[in-house]
Amino acid sequence: MSTSHALGPMLDAARRALAHAHAPYSRFRVGACVRAAGGRLYAGCNVENASYGLTLCAETTAIGSMVAAGDREIAEVVVVTERPEPCPPCGRCLQQLAEFARPGIQVHLCGPEGLRLTTTLGELLPMAFGPGAFERDAP
Ligand code: THU
Repeated sequence: MSTSHALGPMLDAARRALAHAHAPYSRFRVGACVRAAGGRLYAGCNVENASYGLTLCAETTAIGSMVAAGDREIAEVVVVTERPEPCPPCGRCLQQLAEFARPGIQVHLCGPEGLRLTTTLGELLPMAFGPGAFERDAP
Protein backbone atom coordinates (compact mmCIF):
# COMPACT_ATOMS: atom_id res chain seq x y z
CA MET A 1 0.00 0.00 0.00
CA SER A 2 1.43 3.39 -0.99
CA THR A 3 2.57 5.90 1.62
CA SER A 4 0.47 9.02 2.08
CA HIS A 5 2.34 12.30 1.62
CA ALA A 6 -0.59 14.25 3.03
CA LEU A 7 -1.02 12.27 6.22
CA GLY A 8 0.84 14.76 8.44
CA PRO A 9 -1.16 17.84 7.43
CA MET A 10 -4.40 15.84 7.42
CA LEU A 11 -3.71 14.51 10.91
CA ASP A 12 -2.95 18.01 12.16
CA ALA A 13 -6.19 19.35 10.69
CA ALA A 14 -8.21 16.46 12.15
CA ARG A 15 -6.60 16.92 15.58
CA ARG A 16 -7.40 20.65 15.54
CA ALA A 17 -11.01 19.86 14.65
CA LEU A 18 -11.23 17.19 17.38
CA ALA A 19 -10.28 19.87 19.91
CA HIS A 20 -13.44 21.73 18.84
CA ALA A 21 -15.74 18.72 19.04
CA HIS A 22 -19.07 19.33 20.77
CA ALA A 23 -19.48 16.02 22.60
CA PRO A 24 -20.82 16.81 26.07
CA TYR A 25 -23.11 13.73 26.11
CA SER A 26 -20.87 10.91 24.92
CA ARG A 27 -17.51 12.53 25.77
CA PHE A 28 -16.38 10.70 22.62
CA ARG A 29 -14.58 13.39 20.65
CA VAL A 30 -13.87 12.72 16.97
CA GLY A 31 -11.94 14.71 14.38
CA ALA A 32 -11.88 13.98 10.66
CA CYS A 33 -10.16 15.34 7.60
CA VAL A 34 -10.95 14.59 3.98
CA ARG A 35 -8.51 15.45 1.19
CA ALA A 36 -10.19 16.42 -2.03
CA ALA A 37 -8.74 15.21 -5.33
CA GLY A 38 -7.45 18.74 -6.01
CA GLY A 39 -5.49 18.68 -2.75
CA ARG A 40 -7.58 20.87 -0.47
CA LEU A 41 -8.16 19.61 3.06
CA TYR A 42 -11.49 19.82 4.88
CA ALA A 43 -11.74 19.07 8.58
CA GLY A 44 -14.73 18.32 10.76
CA CYS A 45 -15.67 17.30 14.28
CA ASN A 46 -18.69 15.65 15.83
CA VAL A 47 -21.47 18.01 16.86
CA GLU A 48 -23.79 16.44 19.40
CA ASN A 49 -27.23 17.65 20.37
CA ALA A 50 -29.37 17.43 23.51
CA SER A 51 -31.79 15.60 21.23
CA TYR A 52 -29.26 12.78 20.77
CA GLY A 53 -30.41 11.53 17.37
CA LEU A 54 -29.57 14.86 15.77
CA THR A 55 -25.85 14.35 16.36
CA LEU A 56 -23.56 14.95 13.40
CA CYS A 57 -20.45 12.81 13.00
CA ALA A 58 -17.02 14.32 12.33
CA GLU A 59 -16.88 12.80 8.84
CA THR A 60 -20.29 14.31 8.04
CA THR A 61 -19.23 17.82 8.95
CA ALA A 62 -15.96 17.47 7.02
CA ILE A 63 -17.83 16.26 3.93
CA GLY A 64 -20.33 19.11 4.30
CA SER A 65 -17.51 21.66 4.31
CA MET A 66 -15.98 20.04 1.25
CA VAL A 67 -19.20 20.11 -0.73
CA ALA A 68 -19.99 23.68 0.33
CA ALA A 69 -16.56 24.74 -0.94
CA GLY A 70 -17.24 23.18 -4.34
CA ASP A 71 -15.18 19.98 -4.19
CA ARG A 72 -16.82 16.68 -5.07
CA GLU A 73 -14.15 13.97 -4.99
CA ILE A 74 -12.54 12.59 -1.84
CA ALA A 75 -9.04 11.16 -2.32
CA GLU A 76 -8.08 10.28 1.27
CA VAL A 77 -9.59 10.28 4.77
CA VAL A 78 -8.23 10.62 8.31
CA VAL A 79 -10.29 9.91 11.44
CA VAL A 80 -8.91 10.68 14.91
CA THR A 81 -10.32 9.61 18.25
CA GLU A 82 -8.93 9.53 21.76
CA ARG A 83 -9.93 5.92 22.37
CA PRO A 84 -7.26 3.28 22.90
CA GLU A 85 -8.28 1.25 19.82
CA PRO A 86 -8.64 2.32 16.14
CA CYS A 87 -12.16 3.66 15.52
CA PRO A 88 -13.60 3.14 12.02
CA PRO A 89 -16.29 5.43 10.61
CA CYS A 90 -19.87 4.43 11.42
CA GLY A 91 -22.08 2.94 8.71
CA ARG A 92 -23.80 6.21 7.93
CA CYS A 93 -20.44 7.94 7.46
CA LEU A 94 -19.21 5.14 5.22
CA GLN A 95 -22.24 5.64 3.01
CA GLN A 96 -21.63 9.38 2.91
CA LEU A 97 -17.97 8.81 2.01
CA ALA A 98 -19.02 6.37 -0.74
CA GLU A 99 -21.04 9.17 -2.34
CA PHE A 100 -17.82 11.07 -3.08
CA ALA A 101 -14.99 8.50 -3.01
CA ARG A 102 -13.83 5.42 -4.89
CA PRO A 103 -13.50 2.14 -2.99
CA GLY A 104 -9.68 2.17 -3.23
CA ILE A 105 -9.08 5.38 -1.29
CA GLN A 106 -7.15 5.09 1.94
CA VAL A 107 -8.86 5.65 5.29
CA HIS A 108 -6.38 6.28 8.11
CA LEU A 109 -7.58 5.51 11.64
CA CYS A 110 -5.56 7.55 14.10
CA GLY A 111 -5.17 8.36 17.76
CA PRO A 112 -3.71 11.45 19.40
CA GLU A 113 -0.24 9.93 19.01
CA GLY A 114 -0.63 9.32 15.27
CA LEU A 115 -1.49 6.62 12.75
CA ARG A 116 -2.87 3.32 14.06
CA LEU A 117 -4.29 1.59 11.03
CA THR A 118 -4.67 2.28 7.33
CA THR A 119 -7.48 0.58 5.47
CA THR A 120 -9.60 1.39 2.41
CA LEU A 121 -13.17 2.47 1.94
CA GLY A 122 -13.81 -0.72 -0.01
CA GLU A 123 -12.61 -2.86 2.90
CA LEU A 124 -14.83 -0.97 5.31
CA LEU A 125 -17.87 -0.92 3.00
CA PRO A 126 -17.75 -3.81 0.51
CA MET A 127 -20.54 -4.09 -2.08
CA ALA A 128 -21.51 -0.50 -1.43
CA PHE A 129 -24.68 1.00 -2.79
CA GLY A 130 -23.64 4.22 -4.47
CA PRO A 131 -24.03 6.69 -7.31
CA GLY A 132 -23.25 3.89 -9.79
CA ALA A 133 -26.74 2.51 -9.19
CA PHE A 134 -28.09 5.48 -11.15
CA GLU A 135 -25.73 5.23 -14.10
CA ARG A 136 -28.04 2.96 -16.07
CA ASP A 137 -31.61 3.72 -17.05
CA ALA A 138 -34.20 2.56 -14.58
CA PRO A 139 -35.93 -0.72 -15.59
N1 THU B 1 -18.97 9.62 15.81
C1 THU B 1 -18.33 10.25 14.78
O1 THU B 1 -18.11 11.47 14.84
N2 THU B 1 -17.96 9.52 13.70
C2 THU B 1 -18.16 8.18 13.57
O2 THU B 1 -17.91 7.63 12.51
C3 THU B 1 -18.65 7.40 14.71
C4 THU B 1 -19.28 8.19 15.80
C5 THU B 1 -19.41 10.40 16.97
C6 THU B 1 -20.89 10.56 17.09
C7 THU B 1 -21.06 10.81 18.57
O3 THU B 1 -20.92 12.19 18.82
C8 THU B 1 -19.90 10.06 19.19
O4 THU B 1 -18.98 9.78 18.16
C9 THU B 1 -20.29 8.77 19.89
O5 THU B 1 -21.05 7.97 19.05
